[in-house]
Amino acid sequence: MTERVVLAYSGGLDTSVGIGWLKDATGKDVVAMAIDVGQDGEDMEVVRQRALDCGAVESVVIDAKDEFANDYLVPAIKANAMYQKRYPLVSALSRPLIAKYLARTAQEHGADSVAHGCTGKGNDQVRFEAAVAAIAPDLISLAPVRDFALTRDKAIVYAAEHNLPIEQSKKSPYSIDQNVWGRAVETGFLEDPWNAPIEDLYTYSQDPSVPREATEVTITFDQGVPVAIDGTSVTPLQAVEILNRSAGAHGIGRLDMVEDRLVGIKSREVYESPAGTTLIEAHEHLEDLTIEREVARYKRRVEAEWSELVYDGLWFSGLKRALDAFIDDTQRYVSGDVRLNLHAGKATVTGRRSEQSLYDFDLATYDTGDTFDQSLAKGFIELHSLPSKISAQRDLAAQQNGSVK
Ligand code: ARG
Repeated sequence: MTERVVLAYSGGLDTSVGIGWLKDATGKDVVAMAIDVGQDGEDMEVVRQRALDCGAVESVVIDAKDEFANDYLVPAIKANAMYQKRYPLVSALSRPLIAKYLARTAQEHGADSVAHGCTGKGNDQVRFEAAVAAIAPDLISLAPVRDFALTRDKAIVYAAEHNLPIEQSKKSPYSIDQNVWGRAVETGFLEDPWNAPIEDLYTYSQDPSVPREATEVTITFDQGVPVAIDGTSVTPLQAVEILNRSAGAHGIGRLDMVEDRLVGIKSREVYESPAGTTLIEAHEHLEDLTIEREVARYKRRVEAEWSELVYDGLWFSGLKRALDAFIDDTQRYVSGDVRLNLHAGKATVTGRRSEQSLYDFDLATYDTGDTFDQSLAKGFIELHSLPSKISAQRDLAAQQNGSVK
């Protein structure tokens, strides 16, 4: 029997041409696999058929939207995941899920290899291959665009020569990746980091500078998981879809940054993640109310570490699993409501409440009836500043007797 390779298929130019390229270069039959992670573009049945028309021996579409939300986005919310403090890991979160299905589909279809359409310059090749290696160490990873030097120009010629049905995909001057958590746009005129983004780049969010009435929204969390919006129960996926619409309508979640890729390149990226930005903002504010100080401070370091690990493609790793255990433990009391005002490109928290709140009115108030014993503060400050005081005295003495310059 001819050997088989499972290709992560998007329906775009590179992976469509990749089917023929893989077959020509390896002799293997290509099984195309498209994953629905809420990319909200073409009909997935059209995508499935296109793979067959491009020469795939089999073509499967897998709806993984709920799994993506439950098992990938929820942990990201709990971790307040932002790479370089800004990027909500849009592409980085989908890759391990796609890799998981690559491995599973390879097993189901008796394939010895998997393939993806990434170039050799980005993070996504690392994420796919590192995840595949961690799940199914025996599978071979192939990357036609990278390994067989398939440039965009060559792909366009190949598609024309072979009459491949991929019209509009060659028109976009940008490289775009999108899923229900957001969109990533790069290349084209954006490669000059001084060039300002144009309105055309965005599809999940409206122009935030257009005047419109603010929208108020209340998000309910249960142990860090969004469970209701404005009092109506939702699944994590529904929460993301609803907030993409309401926050997107106010231009919330746009981001323009220069980012440090794992392969050492700095790249200019434009993102939009209306729901991601809003959910993490709300979740952070609920944590401020419900998590004790030392845990909260420590968690910020764990969050940065978690985000870097996920960015770097180490989703399926021992450290990531251990950090998840820590983060899950911190979410025990992160339950309650957060009210936000959505307006002019910003989601602003205007209220928070929780049955597990650590906020104590009687301790915080400046009015009469406060239970905080201010006389204790004096002694506390003396001990708290004692090390600074002692070393300052030493510094002064050393300066005066000239023992240290
Ligand atoms: N730079 C981002 C990341 O590494 C986005 C990559 C998106 N891919 C793309 N083909 N535009 O997560």
